[in-house]
Amino acid sequence: MPRKIVVTSALPYANGPIHIGHLVEYLQTDIWVRFQKICGNQCLYFCADDTHGTPIMISARAAGISPEELIEQVHKEHKADFDGFGIEFDNYYSTHSPENRYFSELIFNRLNEAGSILTRDVEQTYCENCKMSLPDRFVRGACPRCKAEDQYGDSCEVCSSTYQPADLINPYCSTCRAAPVLKTSEHYFFKLADYEQQLRDLIAAGHTQKSVANKLDEWFKAGLKDWDISRDGPYFGFKIPGEEDKYFYVWLDAPIGYMASAKNYCDANNLDFDVLWSGAGQAKTGDDEYELYHFIGKDIMYFHALFWPAMLTGSGIKTANKLFVHGFLTVNGEKMSKSRGTFIKASTYAKHLDPEYLRYYYASKLTDGIDDIDLRVEDFVNKANSDLVGKFANLASRSGPMLTKKLDSQLGQLDGQGRELIGKLSAAKDRIVQDYENLKFAAVVRTITALADEANRYVEQNQPWVTIKTDVEKTRTTLTATVNAVRILTIYLKPILPKYAEKVEQFLNIGQMSFADVDTVLENHKINVFERLVDRIDEKQVNAMIEESKEIQSPQPTQESSAEPLKPECTIEDFAKIDLRIAKVAKAERVEGADKLLRLSLDVGGMERSVLAGIATAYEPEELEGKLVVLLANLKPRQMRFGLSEGMILAAGEGGKDIFMLTPDTGAKPGQTVH
Ligand code: 2FM
Ligand code: ZN
Repeated sequence: MPRKIVVTSALPYANGPIHIGHLVEYLQTDIWVRFQKICGNQCLYFCADDTHGTPIMISARAAGISPEELIEQVHKEHKADFDGFGIEFDNYYSTHSPENRYFSELIFNRLNEAGSILTRDVEQTYCENCKMSLPDRFVRGACPRCKAEDQYGDSCEVCSSTYQPADLINPYCSTCRAAPVLKTSEHYFFKLADYEQQLRDLIAAGHTQKSVANKLDEWFKAGLKDWDISRDGPYFGFKIPGEEDKYFYVWLDAPIGYMASAKNYCDANNLDFDVLWSGAGQAKTGDDEYELYHFIGKDIMYFHALFWPAMLTGSGIKTANKLFVHGFLTVNGEKMSKSRGTFIKASTYAKHLDPEYLRYYYASKLTDGIDDIDLRVEDFVNKANSDLVGKFANLASRSGPMLTKKLDSQLGQLDGQGRELIGKLSAAKDRIVQDYENLKFAAVVRTITALADEANRYVEQNQPWVTIKTDVEKTRTTLTATVNAVRILTIYLKPILPKYAEKVEQFLNIGQMSFADVDTVLENHKINVFERLVDRIDEKQVNAMIEESKEIQSPQPTQESSAEPLKPECTIEDFAKIDLRIAKVAKAERVEGADKLLRLSLDVGGMERSVLAGIATAYEPEELEGKLVVLLANLKPRQMRFGLSEGMILAAGEGGKDIFMLTPDTGAKPGQTVH
């Protein structure tokens, strides 16, 4: 009986591009899913963009678009990247979906009914200027321990200590640089500890790898804490039922997105979701038709091995059969780095190199463990050239062209020696199947390359390029065995190299191969004209990719320097959005109740603008009238306490008396663009 399997990969955040680090997981999962499919199992692969949270809301604001527009744009980009790498989801959905809202509310309500939700006041960091609570990563300041400047609100990158944002010295909002305040707010919590025993039982029953279970043990020992699952508005996410301005924390609805993606697929494909994921609709039954597996990275174990199964258990919904955890990617033994050019986006990679090289390389490195995998550039080039080109494609190019040109593209029959070779190759099937099933892809690749060596030795011994001159039929027999070797090796490689396999199927003039075909041979069969299967990598291509990925880091002030640290880099495209105009101060007046502000009425070449400028400590209103200034003219108008401000004028200085407006040379005219 074919198995029925549901598989997920972690949902990538919708606020950045897919890079080669992400691809470790999507390729590992895709290879496993393809393997299940070509074994004849029904295997459904679901994923989605993880779309909620403050960073996405802020990115959208910065780009001047709505979060919905931002996530739609990113969804397209992510999908194109995955397609380019042959990652074949059955559904690639979004957590910002009606299905996800439905299941988030359902699970929350069920947990509430079970008594696993409580509310309690928390003190949170709030920016009065941005009018929002700040997630830890959006508060910066000096580390309370080592005093290093400009650290995040949760941990210090210099001394690695962890703390609360309120502990930072001189904290500031990373968006507007204002000092945040502490504000009390009621939050919802999930009582994780209610599920400790069930979680311990699940893990003891083999829910994850051993190394992961050890880590979980440490967490159990430290004690399971209540989990804060709400966030105050403004927030991009789902409102909590019955609340006006409180939302589910992004990490609550993210894993529920697995279910939402599956439900969306079921509805479109006439499948019963309650059977596929029991417990979400009617009561959970013991005999699940579908197996369920989540693939994740080791950084999100806490969420997937504790919170997620606890949420499901508490709401009577089936948990996964197993969580497959993998390590991170390093490049040349180090963390991916923007300055070294090793933080490579999927789209940049695909511009320079065939994605199948990376599929093969990762497969050759992946095990069932959680150790990091290292991409060594030199090793990557060698592996592609010596294995893909030198071993697999070589076998095809030693047989295909000769069969086409000299033997009428017609296969003959295997002789004793040919049968022996093919017998050896097909005998490896069970081992390869076991290794694929257990995520030991590196072992799979080792087995297949050893078999390819064997087949290449067979060709060398039989020397078809010599026998073709004297014994055509003997040559046909040799090449028939060679082509059969190509066929079996390609079946074994098919989950890893789907495009390569497609080309071989075309060359062999056969339909889609599956693992069952390993036990048959291709004899007395006409093949198609041979076409090149894979090209060698030139190191230049890799270097060009790395060059393109290099981002020059903005120079930061030294310890002694008094300059403020620079804000994150902006691109020329960001800068192009700015419209600077010459403006003439038609009128300037004080603003009652605001010591620092002047209200300026500006003439921008016929357009009138009213701007509140913080320059009252440096200028008397009268001395400004008639002056030319530089205006940021397309700044979104802001409603401030003292009225609407429709732009900003450019000035520099320390503050107080030292504020110097940027005044253009005489000759400039109001309304003119500043270049
Ligand atoms: O760590 C991450 O990138 C998260 N976006 C993963 C979410 S996985 C699941 F829970 F949705
Ligand atoms: Zn702010």
